[in-house]
Parts: sequence; C-alpha cells; structure tokens
Amino acid sequence: MDQKRILLIVGGGIAAYKALELTRLLRKAGVAVRPILTQAGAEFVTPLSLSALAEDKVYCELFSLTDEAEMGHIELSRSADLVVVAPATADLMAKAAHGLAGDLASTTLLATDKPVLMAPAMNVRMWEHSATRRNLATLRADGVMFVGPDEGAMACGEYGPGRMAEPAAIVEAVMAALGGGARPLSGRRALVTAGPTVEAIDPVRMLTNRSSGKQGYAIAGALAALGCEVTLVSGPTALPTPAGVVRVDVESAREMLAASEAALPADIAVCVAAVADWRPAETGETKIKKDGKAAAPIALVENPDILANLSKGRRRPRLVIGFAAETHDLEANAQAKLAKKGCDWIVANDVSVAGTMGGDDNAVALVTKGGIERWERMAKGEVARKLAGRIAQEFR
Ligand SMILES: Cc1cc2nc3c(=O)[nH]c(=O)nc-3n(C[C@H](O)[C@H](O)[C@H](O)COP(=O)(O)O)c2cc1C
Repeated sequence: MDQKRILLIVGGGIAAYKALELTRLLRKAGVAVRPILTQAGAEFVTPLSLSALAEDKVYCELFSLTDEAEMGHIELSRSADLVVVAPATADLMAKAAHGLAGDLASTTLLATDKPVLMAPAMNVRMWEHSATRRNLATLRADGVMFVGPDEGAMACGEYGPGRMAEPAAIVEAVMAALGGGARPLSGRRALVTAGPTVEAIDPVRMLTNRSSGKQGYAIAGALAALGCEVTLVSGPTALPTPAGVVRVDVESAREMLAASEAALPADIAVCVAAVADWRPAETGETKIKKDGKAAAPIALVENPDILANLSKGRRRPRLVIGFAAETHDLEANAQAKLAKKGCDWIVANDVSVAGTMGGDDNAVALVTKGGIERWERMAKGEVARKLAGRIAQEFR
C-alpha cells in the first residue's frame, strides 16, 4: 500500500501539546505528517518540536516567499490524503464554517479537495455556545468528520465536553478515514440506533430516559472503523457524530422506527437505543394547565417495538442485535428477549450498577442462541470494538 499522508493543522489551544504525541503516533503507524501550525498554535508548541516529530517542514505563514516558491498554498492543501485539524479551536471551526481564509490554516481548509477530520478542543462554554453549535452543524453538513471532544476535567478548571480526544483515539479515526486499518466489513451496511427517545406529553413536557447514547455511538464508530457503511439513527444526545458515520436525528419511537426502516436494506442492525416502551395516548396541542385538583393521569399506549420489527420481514438484516438494559435477572431476561424478539444476539447490560447509564464503562453479557458470554467490565469504546470484531467474524 502507498504511504498515506496527512496534513496536520495545529490550532492555538492548550491541547496543542497533544498534537506532538499525535504526530509521533501517526509516524509510528507509518503515516507521513506535514504540519501547519497557526500563529496561536506556535504560542503553545514550537515549530521545531513539531518538525522534529513529523520529520518534515512545518508551514506557518500564508505570505511566505520561500514557502510559496517551494510549494504554493493551494498545492499544500492538496498534498495529502486527509486534512486533520487537532486541536480544532473554536476559531478554526468558525473560520472553516464560514469560508474565511485569512491565514494559512483557514486558506488550506477552504482550498483543499481532500476529506477533513477535526478534533475540537475548547472550554466547555465555548463548545456549548450556540455559535459553535451552529458552526459544528454547518461543518457536519459540509461533510467534515469529527472525533471527540471528550468530556472531563479541563485545563481551565471546568468540567464537561470540550477536551480534545486522546491522540490514540484520533489515530484510530484517522486510520478509519484513510481506510488504512483492517476493513473486514468493507462493502457491508449497518444500522445502529442510539440514545433515548422523547415522547411529547404537550409542547413543553415529555417522557424520556437517562440514556446518553455513548454505547451506541461507540458501536457506530467501531463498525465504521472496520469499513462498514453505517447509518446511526439517534435520539437527542450531546455527542458528536463518530467519524465516517451518517447520522439521522429523531425524537420519538415512531420516528426512530421510520428512520430505521428507511435505512434498510442493511446487513447488520444493532439496536442500542433506549426506546420508550410507552407514549402518551394523546399529546396536548397546548400546555396542559393544572387546575388545583389531583393531577390528571396520563394514559399511555405501547410504542412500536423497533427490534422486533427489524427482526422480521423480507428486509430483515442478516444479523440483528438488540441491547437489553436490565436491573435484575439480567441473563434470564436477555434469554427471554432473544426468543421473544426474534433477533440473533442480545447484549445485556446491567444498568443497576450506578454510573452505567451515562457513564463511560459497561459490563455486558453477549447472549446468542449458542449460550452466554460474560465480558468483564470495560470502557464503552472497548465494548464497541469487541462487539464490532465479533460482528466482523460473522461476515468472514
Ligand atoms: C492560554 C490559552 C488557551 C487557549 N485555549 C484554547 C482552546 O483550548 N480552544 C480554543 O478554541 N481556543 C483557545 N484559546 C484561544 C485561541 O488561542 C484563540 O481563539 C486563537 O485566536 C486561535 O487561533 P487559531 O484558531 O488560528 O489557532 C486559548 C487562548 C489562550 C490564551
């Protein structure tokens, strides 16, 4: 295979130091790295460090006589298989979303004809600001791929989403985007559902649940990393779309079913979403007012069963996998669900363990017609990779 090349744009954030480790890991993986360092980026890491690790020249200036003579900025923007922005500052995202081209990094992002992968890193308020949300949506719609950000303690002392993905996770996303890793699911299509559903009671109230979507998103990403074409049908979450995944946003169980059916035909369906079993029989068109008497009972009706629906019919995916969130009798309930729904595998997770819903770890058991496999507690990303590996084995 020809050596893969990336153009690495390093923006001006604290996380720029991680770009050095990212560069080292990419070089170790045999990927050529040509860095562009923004003026603000150079306040955090030196061109010399970046150049030494990349084993290439670092480009910093748009108006550089020597650089422009050696390699014009347009040529530079196309001199790689993939453009990676890490850290992608709020500023770089805004410039790219609006087509600004006032410096070398933003000009490169506007001029390139190559795919772009961004690893955002910024303070949680900056990440959650409506301007950044708009820019993110614009960039996604333009086909830009994203990895991270992670949630956690930040250098500024605050806590939340905004921390740059770890270099190893960025390398994984780069490999998936480059198609450089093993791609045993290439040519296969998967549907993954994730997150909660939301059922409206009236225009301001709703029935929902605590699902964060983390496990489903990780599975969608892990399948995409193995070359699978993935449609992720997602209830409302605060998560970025995994690299290489097409995401369809829905709210209610009925919308989720319709979007899932629209994603067929598929070879694989993984139903991870926490779909509401019931919805209000009627949705108030206006806000239901209290009248000083006892609260009116909300009559509920059953929602369609997405897993059972996908498990039958002419367009049934070859492998249908359901998730069972259980608080008790985990394995017995999972076995019963497998038989009742007509799916092939059930991944049972014990949500009675504090922190599983919304947390980063999961302890699951894989229930197939052949028996039960108990997996030790591990990060949701690990569960996703292990499950994707098992799925790939089925399609060998
Ligand atoms: C100490 C310090 C840390 C910063 N960290 C970040 C950051 O993590 N993310 C971000 O978007 N901006 C951060 N900024 C602001 C950017 O450096 C600033 O918006 C700059 O113009 C970005 O330029 P660039 O996008 O061309 O790299 C930081 C600024 C300072 C002074």
